[in-house]
Amino acid sequence: MCGIIGIVGKEEVADRLLDGLRRLEYRGYDSAGVASVHDGAIERRRAEGKLANLAKELVAEPLPGTTGIAHTRWATHGAPTTSNAHPHATQEVALVHNGIIENFKPLREELIARGRHFDSQTDTEVVAHLVSELVEQGASPQEAVQQVLPRLHGAFALAILFRRHPDLLIGARLGSPLVVGYGEGETYLGSDALALAPLTQRIAYLDEGDWVVITREGAQIFDRDNVPVERPVTLSGVSGAMIDKGNHRHFMAKEIYEQPVVVAQTLRSYLRRMENQVALPDMDFDLAGVRRITIVACGTSYYAGLIAKYWFETFARVPVDIDVASEFRYRDPVLEPGGLALFISQSGETADTLAALRHARAERQIIAVVVNVPTSSMAREADLLLPTHAGPEIGVASTKAFTCQLAVLAALAANLARVKGRLSPEEEAEIVYHLSEAPAAMNDALSHDEEIEAMAHLIAPARDVLYLGRGQDYPMALEGALKLKEISYIHAEGYAAGEMKHGPIALIDDAVPVIVIAPSGPLFEKTVSNMQEVQARGGKVVLISDAEGIAAAGDGCMATIEMPRVHPLIVPLVYAVPVQLLAYHVAVAKGTDVDQPRNLAKSVTVE
Ligand code: F6R
Repeated sequence: MCGIIGIVGKEEVADRLLDGLRRLEYRGYDSAGVASVHDGAIERRRAEGKLANLAKELVAEPLPGTTGIAHTRWATHGAPTTSNAHPHATQEVALVHNGIIENFKPLREELIARGRHFDSQTDTEVVAHLVSELVEQGASPQEAVQQVLPRLHGAFALAILFRRHPDLLIGARLGSPLVVGYGEGETYLGSDALALAPLTQRIAYLDEGDWVVITREGAQIFDRDNVPVERPVTLSGVSGAMIDKGNHRHFMAKEIYEQPVVVAQTLRSYLRRMENQVALPDMDFDLAGVRRITIVACGTSYYAGLIAKYWFETFARVPVDIDVASEFRYRDPVLEPGGLALFISQSGETADTLAALRHARAERQIIAVVVNVPTSSMAREADLLLPTHAGPEIGVASTKAFTCQLAVLAALAANLARVKGRLSPEEEAEIVYHLSEAPAAMNDALSHDEEIEAMAHLIAPARDVLYLGRGQDYPMALEGALKLKEISYIHAEGYAAGEMKHGPIALIDDAVPVIVIAPSGPLFEKTVSNMQEVQARGGKVVLISDAEGIAAAGDGCMATIEMPRVHPLIVPLVYAVPVQLLAYHVAVAKGTDVDQPRNLAKSVTVE
């Protein structure tokens, strides 16, 4: 949430900063800005709205300079206006910030009392003034930053530019990610390696509390006690080519279509086909000794966790507690030392999930992380790192990361069941077989794209939509509702099918489409009974099931979507596809901004 980049360069930086922002736009896109030092003065260009507006601004008024910083914003404090856009500047310094300065109010009052004037409503501007004040009093950039950092509470990644030091930038991180990139006679700062990919692959990840002085010659890193430290330089391996949509109209469509491939890619690292076994990376704790699992995540990743709860409990008979990360810490959960805490995240940077992970670590839990970005903070803090191999997910609505998470979680559940003595080799072979079949079944699901597109107009005019499912299809109903609301702005609710009669049934009329997720199986009859309660009240149903289910209950539905008949374990992987496609086509029919829906950001690095 908010992306930052900085360059101390040999050549002009404005175009390269803008290019970096394009690669960071997934983190926030309600305003953007750049600043550089030129001829002894700080210059800024900022614009409200998408990056294209800043690009126009830079054409109208080019920004000279070989050292600069840039920012793309997801607003937390202050509306997304030009005056609240970063960089925030005084005459002496300019800075960009990702995170929240929680104690900004007292700091602001203190600064106002000393006669400082504020131009924005942001929390960030206090940092610019605090650093500037010290610089104006004669402190060096290093001295000023060193004195200011301990005064800031909350989370930050900062990049700071100094008028009198045109060949230097200072970066700092606490709670928000920041990397240093090493080029040929140039040095960079960025929120992630992706932002810097066209500039360099040589990346150092700053640790919590680190701050860094970068010049053309390189970087000097200090830890939170201001002791000079070395952080390993690794090759990021991220492609420098601009991530593109292929022949799809939106990243979301491309990512939905990539699923069979990336799920197969992910499964390859967790299945040993020849031995008919699931396999996990080496771990230095005894998985068989795990007596309870605590799952923590946010949003779509949380729904993946809810599905996995069914698997851990069914296959391994290990009890699971599950929480959304923003609630976890604050309810003071009872965690027995030695328990397994499992965190699920696409980005690996979600502030609530990261804070929950650290809380669990302090409570002496073993930390397992299912994550898509292997260099992320969560990945680096894991005892057991379980990567998904979905590749960069750019569309704000999570799709391929979700199904890859499910693939990893299914393998983990099977592994746990085996080490607990609850899975025979034959049963394990069956699981390996069915998981290996998932990519083909997902391909089959994708072949219904045109039908789903054709039925999107039935849903697009609705004000409210209900999703119903039972058992592991209940979290899928929650995920369906989340997908629809976040990209089409239609109010949608996911409900456990049997719970509908305890309230939401009052909403049913012919204007509220109800999407029922009901593969054939032991729960089918019960879900269909609930579906009939909807139909009896004039409700319009879209039934997602297999041929058998549709033959048994499809009559009287407004529409049906036929999925291949698959093993219950891979139902969530396969049924995710129509659920995603439906949300996608409804959003396209409504003309919303599918990849960058309003008010959202890809990576939520504030609590
Ligand atoms: C919904 C969506 C969000 C994320 C949530 C967690 O489509 O993308 O709900 O799932 O913000 O993000 P990660 O997985 O990066 O921790």
